[in-house]
Amino acid sequence: MSSIKPHGGELVNRIANTEQRDALISQAVTLPSIIINTWTVSDLDLIGVGAFSPLTGFLNEADYHSVVERMRLANGIVWSIPITLAVEENVAAGLSVGTRAALTGEDGVLYGVIDIESIFKADQKLEAVNVFKTDDEEHPGVAKLFGRPSTYVGGPITIINRPQPEKFNEFYFDPAETRKIFADNGWKTIVGFQTRNPVHRAHEYIQKCAMEIVDALFLNPLVGETKSDDVPANVRMKSYVALLENYYPKDRVFLGVFPAAMRYAGPREAIFHATVRKNYGCTHFIVGRDHAGVGDYYGTYEAQDLLRTFTAEELGITPLYFEHSFFCKKCGNMASSKTCPHDKEDHLTLSGTKVRALLRDGVCPPPEFSRPEVAQILIEGMSEQPVN
Ligand code: ADX
Repeated sequence: MSSIKPHGGELVNRIANTEQRDALISQAVTLPSIIINTWTVSDLDLIGVGAFSPLTGFLNEADYHSVVERMRLANGIVWSIPITLAVEENVAAGLSVGTRAALTGEDGVLYGVIDIESIFKADQKLEAVNVFKTDDEEHPGVAKLFGRPSTYVGGPITIINRPQPEKFNEFYFDPAETRKIFADNGWKTIVGFQTRNPVHRAHEYIQKCAMEIVDALFLNPLVGETKSDDVPANVRMKSYVALLENYYPKDRVFLGVFPAAMRYAGPREAIFHATVRKNYGCTHFIVGRDHAGVGDYYGTYEAQDLLRTFTAEELGITPLYFEHSFFCKKCGNMASSKTCPHDKEDHLTLSGTKVRALLRDGVCPPPEFSRPEVAQILIEGMSEQPVN
């Protein structure tokens, strides 16, 4: 098994065994039901499989306050993003502490149960300011937060049914599985790469710089809910497969998805992304420019600065920090300000808006920006998607 310990020491497993499952299914019909959306279903499942270790459920009141205020669970373990179960007040009125409730998806599937430890009112404005550093509703994470009810229900969960991916089933792995795969490959050091974007040349460059010093890369794109103008996960998946096929060594890269929702919480989300990848068995984690950022809400290296405030022991995974990377026409290769002496005019930089416009017109961005195989898939994907 992978040598790195899960966050908190033990890989959580909250999936009911056959016997428990049968009993819970019979019991569920007698329980009050909480309807959960796909975002919450994904959080529930990620808790259940241990991706969010040491969480065993949705945050209870003490842990919630502690996470919001000091980026730690009440027991002191680093945890930066509140994982909460928000319920409408009329639903909460039918629940009580010390009892169990069924967690049913909007699709009618009984996904699990929660043993209720606390029911509490959240100060969502404070949560927004502490977690996202803003309460501006233009921020997609803040908008999501304010769109949820402010009564939260906390407590350990048990999984009864797992969400079934519609596509790319073969790239879904639980942390116990990735840990085994890494160990079976004999990889001792594995760098995790989070992305919500296609892998462009700058991403490839920092991944390959990291690959020079570790045994393997775990390309772990986030495929849960993202904002509407991000490239959809199914298009991205095709592009990752094409990229790996053409430009990466097969015996040193592993592609598996991270089925979580994107929070766009910048620095705090970088900590979350790193600790979760530790649970999947990564020993290292890449943090480049404006990790998990959106708009101008966070400074270019703010995520790196925040990560540096934690000790190596409490993080347990080693962040690998990268400067903003680009293709330099004078150097004739990918570089960053750490390695390139030339002026900005010599650097190829394209805004996301510009790249989207090119792709929408069926034009590949320069190969120094994006591999043609990737660009082609994005062009095809664009023509299938509604224009935002
Ligand atoms: S994220 O929201 O998932 O972080 P993105 O997919 O753009 O967004 O980035 C994935 C990782 O690559 C992050 O660690 C980010 O900081 C890094 N990154 C993206 N673009 C660059 C770049 N040009 N130079 C350096 N790092 C980058």
